[in-house]
Amino acid sequence: MNRRQFIPDTVWVWGDDGWMIPLRREVDPERWERLCDSDEAIVTQVDDGACDMGVQPTSSSSAPSVMREMIDALDVGTGMRVLEIGTGTGYNAALLGEIVGSENVTTVEVDAQIADHARHALKGAGFPVTVITGDGITGYPENAPYDRIIVTASVRDVPYAWVRQSTAGGRILMPWGSDLYPGGVLLALTVRADGTAEGRFTRAVAFMRLREQRPKHVPWRDDVREGDYLQRVSRVFPREVFETASDARFALGARLPGVTDGRTRNPDGSHTLRLSDYETGSWAACTPGSGEHLVWQHGPRRLWDELERSYEWWLDSGKPGPARFGLTVTPAGQRIWLDSPDDPIA
Ligand SMILES: C[S@@+](CC[C@H](N)C(=O)[O-])C[C@H]1O[C@@H](n2cnc3c(N)ncnc32)[C@H](O)[C@@H]1O
Repeated sequence: MNRRQFIPDTVWVWGDDGWMIPLRREVDPERWERLCDSDEAIVTQVDDGACDMGVQPTSSSSAPSVMREMIDALDVGTGMRVLEIGTGTGYNAALLGEIVGSENVTTVEVDAQIADHARHALKGAGFPVTVITGDGITGYPENAPYDRIIVTASVRDVPYAWVRQSTAGGRILMPWGSDLYPGGVLLALTVRADGTAEGRFTRAVAFMRLREQRPKHVPWRDDVREGDYLQRVSRVFPREVFETASDARFALGARLPGVTDGRTRNPDGSHTLRLSDYETGSWAACTPGSGEHLVWQHGPRRLWDELERSYEWWLDSGKPGPARFGLTVTPAGQRIWLDSPDDPIA
């Protein structure tokens, strides 16, 4: 089977100006084919369906080596019933169909146009898997129970529906990410007979977020307009928290649900680092200086205080990376722990 059979004629590549621009097969067939045959992720939709230019990739065919690694981690075998959340092009569903039999694969895609493309491509390639247009957060109870569930978009809040629709001993594999760490770290949960699921994180991967669980920011202009803030000097400046995919960022993201970050550039070239919590409208801003770091905080959540406390906890815990953390899902929700399920972190 060839990935080309699943890739739409228009894909998206980064232009020089920071926008994503379309690459059309009929205009540059060689580049399109090179991309299909490469081990790169291929962006197939931007901004939930923009036509000319885009900022944010919203659907893609993942890098083939990452798909292989995830299918290995899923530990899937002939005849198992599998649910995939995030159909995208349909290529991964076809790979699953090759292993378990197409009649055992159900795949759910939230975007109707993408789902139609995948349905057509899967049929054309001879894989009659069931493609459902819908929100994968509710799973697909009609074909449950599943021996395996694989999610190909990053998840912040693991829905209990996936546990409920799994067999005892089943496995649920997903990239899990927080709002501070949106890309994700692979997480494999084992479903137990008591109706809970538990597992550990392994390694960082880069996936787009489930549509309904995307981070939401407090608009940055609000701090200036409202002028209602407390000012102080920061105890610490946790530089590693603001580095992409650092261990500190993962740990703090797990401890501070709902907290997003960003940075704005000041006229003198320095950057102000910003945290926000959309639910409560709280925000914090810090401009690192050579000596003191000034902090402003607004709202019921004192986000910089929370960040400082969590950072100190991470240092005291020996700077743990994702592999020391795990997650348990019960009907009451998800719980993240460090080293042992008896030590929840928040
Ligand atoms: C990285 S792509 C999936 C790649 C795909 N498995 C493949 O082989 O091409 C992630 C997909 O998840 C879809 N998605 C996002 N939120 C979703 C949701 N709540 N339910 C189902 N699909 C969702 C996106 O529209 C996107 O097509």
